[in-house]
Amino acid sequence: MAVRKLKDRIFEVGAIDWDRELFDELVHLPDGTSYNAYLVQGSEKTALIDTVDPDKEQVLIQNLKTLHPERIDYLISNHAEQDHSGCIPKILELHPETMVVTNSKCKAMLMDHLHVAEDRFIVIKDRETLSLGDKTLEFIMTPWVHWPETMTTYLREDKILFPCDFFGAHRATSNLFVTKESKVYYGAKRYYAEIMMPFRTIIQKHLKTLGNYDIEIIAPSHGPVYDRPAFIMDAYRNWVSDEVKNKVLIPFVSMHGSTRAMVDRLTSALIDRGIKVKLFNLVKADMGEYAMDIVDAATVVFATPFVLVGAHPSLVYAAYFTGALRAKVKHVGIMASYGWGGKVVEQVKSLIEPVKAEHLEPVLSKGLPGKEEFRKVDALADTILERHRALNIL
Ligand code: FEO
Repeated sequence: MAVRKLKDRIFEVGAIDWDRELFDELVHLPDGTSYNAYLVQGSEKTALIDTVDPDKEQVLIQNLKTLHPERIDYLISNHAEQDHSGCIPKILELHPETMVVTNSKCKAMLMDHLHVAEDRFIVIKDRETLSLGDKTLEFIMTPWVHWPETMTTYLREDKILFPCDFFGAHRATSNLFVTKESKVYYGAKRYYAEIMMPFRTIIQKHLKTLGNYDIEIIAPSHGPVYDRPAFIMDAYRNWVSDEVKNKVLIPFVSMHGSTRAMVDRLTSALIDRGIKVKLFNLVKADMGEYAMDIVDAATVVFATPFVLVGAHPSLVYAAYFTGALRAKVKHVGIMASYGWGGKVVEQVKSLIEPVKAEHLEPVLSKGLPGKEEFRKVDALADTILERHRALNIL
């Protein structure tokens, strides 16, 4: 429990979650996380921007008690997901004067997910403002970062942006502001990769919109606060751009060595051709690391043995994950080894259908690969070289 001061009458009152290991029962959190909430005290009104995960309700309540605001006039809800909205019912119970300020989509979600009463809402629209006296909040609709109702709040006089998940990083730290950009870059890229990447094109538009605002501080709802906004905005511009790097990812599974022999041959062939390669043995791979790499890899080659009549289940997951993230990879290859047949190529293609990439000629090996199969693997490396040259990324 601790209150951290951003600026005069602006405080971070949320909670640091040092121990959380999983988010959405899916995303690994190697560095924990935080649920930031902000109290903004204007000359006439006070606003709380977002709350915290219900597990940390007592931390938020104690932090607010430390500041003992006479009233909380407004509770700004930028996002309905429970790690930010989950304590809204408790705040409304403790503060009968508080009105929830949000957009109509978020209002509907808060009523669905948390049963917030309809008469506790003030509904605002894009670019509408709310005066706290000497401080003014402006609401900017930024949908799909990463739910349809997400919005960003801008505090005009102090030039602070409160974008909730957008620009955030799962990182537990006692530092209010970013101290080591390289560490935060890792966390923010991992967060972008696993949560935001499917919405790359709409984020391009949001970045243009926010580029018109004079921003001195970005205060997200996960991880440290940015007092050098260009650091995270430039990083996002790079991640959402259409550009890819001279990099091939090979997510693979091998049960008896045949697939692995093809993977090793392709790896050597690509290195010989000046192409960066990264292998992900899906038996033990950290899929968060894979997601980070797929943010800007030009090519991915899936490699699997046939199991029954399809790909190995771990490969199925990797292919589905790649499709779900709508990665911007330009080329997709498939290598597979089999004993009696099946439909691996069709299956993998269908799983990654949302990725609008060129499918390279697959390489199949009945049993252990021999001279002919290795020739085909070398040909695949040649094709990748040619495609990367055409993209001018070598
Ligand atoms: Fe941090 Fe989408 O919740």
